Amino acid sequence: MKAKAVKIADGVYWVGVIHWNSRTFHGYGIPGTTYNAYLVFGEEKTVLIDNAYVGLQNQLDARIEDAFAQEGKEIKIDVFVQNHSEMDHSTYLRDTIDKYNPDAEIYASANCIKFLEAQYHNFSDLELTPVATGDEIDIGGRTLKFVSAPMLHWPDSMFTFLAEEGILFSNDAFGQHVCHSKRFDKDYSLDYLLREAQKYYANLVTLGSPMLRMKLQELTDNGLLEQIKMIAPCHGQIWTNPGPIVEKYSEWASGVCKDKITVIYDTMHHSTEKLAFQIAEGIMSEGVEVAMYFMQEDGPDDVITDILDSKAIALGAPTMMNKPFPRIGNMMYWLDCVNFKGTGSEKNALIFSSKGWGGGAVAKLQRDLEEAGFTVTDTLDVLFVPDEDILAEAFEKGAELARSIKE
Ligand code: FEO
Repeated sequence: MKAKAVKIADGVYWVGVIHWNSRTFHGYGIPGTTYNAYLVFGEEKTVLIDNAYVGLQNQLDARIEDAFAQEGKEIKIDVFVQNHSEMDHSTYLRDTIDKYNPDAEIYASANCIKFLEAQYHNFSDLELTPVATGDEIDIGGRTLKFVSAPMLHWPDSMFTFLAEEGILFSNDAFGQHVCHSKRFDKDYSLDYLLREAQKYYANLVTLGSPMLRMKLQELTDNGLLEQIKMIAPCHGQIWTNPGPIVEKYSEWASGVCKDKITVIYDTMHHSTEKLAFQIAEGIMSEGVEVAMYFMQEDGPDDVITDILDSKAIALGAPTMMNKPFPRIGNMMYWLDCVNFKGTGSEKNALIFSSKGWGGGAVAKLQRDLEEAGFTVTDTLDVLFVPDEDILAEAFEKGAELARSIKE
């Protein structure tokens, strides 16, 4: 096949793969994605940074060939740098090495080397050199500096910094699962990209928030952060203006939240729904933003995205067989996995439910939410269908929750 490489700086090319028809990733819905790989030409050596899924490798090969053609050079990759071993960036790695240069230098973190062998069982005959923060290689007039980035988002994650150009190849960090024909942030609206980056962060990076805070501090202390002119992640658009995404990562990792409450509910015969809508009215009456989710239609991934920068949630479920309605259970499972505790944000929660007789949903949700790091500040457990008095109470509980986050 034919495919063009995209020049992102002098002698630096995007040679990645566009996965137009991918619709889920790590369990969340996406509109397609990209697996970004980069080719860096030095005066002495040419380096391939990261790789692609097998099945789409023809794109990678075609773009590598095109990049060499654009540079007017014979195809030869001297160095492979693998920032992370997860399969979306590594399934074709061994084949790429065999195809382009089995004698090439190969650099990765010690964990990445271990993980590659554990996933593919065919790397042990190659000489892979472990690198970490402080290590660098000279490729002829250009320097690649390695920065360990464990838990951003795997224990093996690493960044590679092209010092002379100020380009940070950040692998999964700073990525977005979007799928477009153009490669840069400036080609699309910043608000849209930051929202996609928030979804990516909330669902994939939240757990690593304490590590991210330390990493940003380290990059600030050693002066590297101010040298970054471009961030080239492994998914989505390339940040030619890194300021906004670095600022957002700093906020998300530190639990900075808006005056916003995410309302999440499911319903059987519209009773819990009536409570949800009244609670939302109460929240709005205090001038606080509401993000509303109906779990019969909406995905947990979008809910998680809004909870990330919400100061509180209101969670509602009908009682069924003494427990919360099952789709809310799925939601709770995600909340427990993502674990917002690491961001340091303190999120209040209001639980509401409609029950036929004995109840049980509220008690179960309270236990689960507290385990997931939320502070349950109030509950509303309603027998069958809420009347006007109950609806007024729901309104007031929403307003009270809103006041609690403004204080
Ligand atoms: Fe995009 Fe962790 O791989």
